[in-house]
Amino acid sequence: MQVDFSMAIGEAMNTQRAIRRVKPDPIDDTIILQLLELATRAPNAKNEQSWEFVVVKDIAVKKQLATENRTLWNMVKKRFEKKGRDNPAMQKLNVATQWAADNFENYPAMVVCCYKGSTLALHPLIGTQYYGSIFPAIQNLLLASRAINLGANLTTIALWNQRRSRRILGLPRGIVPCVVVTLGWPIGNYGPSCRKPVGDVVSLDRYNNKPWLGKSSGEIEIQKDTA
Ligand SMILES: Cc1cc2nc3c(=O)[nH]c(=O)nc-3n(C[C@H](O)[C@H](O)[C@H](O)COP(=O)(O)O)c2cc1C
Repeated sequence: MQVDFSMAIGEAMNTQRAIRRVKPDPIDDTIILQLLELATRAPNAKNEQSWEFVVVKDIAVKKQLATENRTLWNMVKKRFEKKGRDNPAMQKLNVATQWAADNFENYPAMVVCCYKGSTLALHPLIGTQYYGSIFPAIQNLLLASRAINLGANLTTIALWNQRRSRRILGLPRGIVPCVVVTLGWPIGNYGPSCRKPVGDVVSLDRYNNKPWLGKSSGEIEIQKDTA
């Protein structure tokens, strides 16, 4: 089945959300492969394409990952609930994460995104190249999903025990599972994300010189060309 990826990139980026609540309806394999083809167009160190993707649809495998996900969520959720006491956004996130924990095995498909190579990342630059070679592809996968209104979420907690994740997925040494992207047709809608104004996180010339503090890009005066 060919799908239409023509959504404008700005719209896809502005409305990309972590979609956790999805229907159990199946996703055509050809759609998943189109998404992963777009994922593999991403930049990566030395074009070594050090990625492997395991598409999980088998209920037995999904159940094992669901148990892993639930185990870690049960261990950390008290801490998240405490953080959410005076924070409605965090409360919403916790409710959605609980939904995901309760329904993990019902996602029609999930993609385990793996890095192929050494697990040692001692120097920060090696670390950057290591994870930097898988996360652009993951973001492509998320944006491509957004473009076709397929719900997607980047999750990590199901992989908290690497030894067990390896066994569940039959991964050999040297294939490091990094992220589980859950996929499914959304129950709700995609919508704008809630982020700090861009000016809060951008410095000019030197760290912490913040002329745009509190401002979004649309609130910044157009500079006169002095050249
Ligand atoms: C490195 C990383 C790890 C994440 N791990 C999880 C996870 O284990 N479970 C989960 O439900 N969401 C996970 N997320 C999704 C974040 O919670 C989500 O991107 C964030 O809350 C922003 O959501 P929004 O884009 O809908 O505003 C992770 C995201 C990143 C980038």
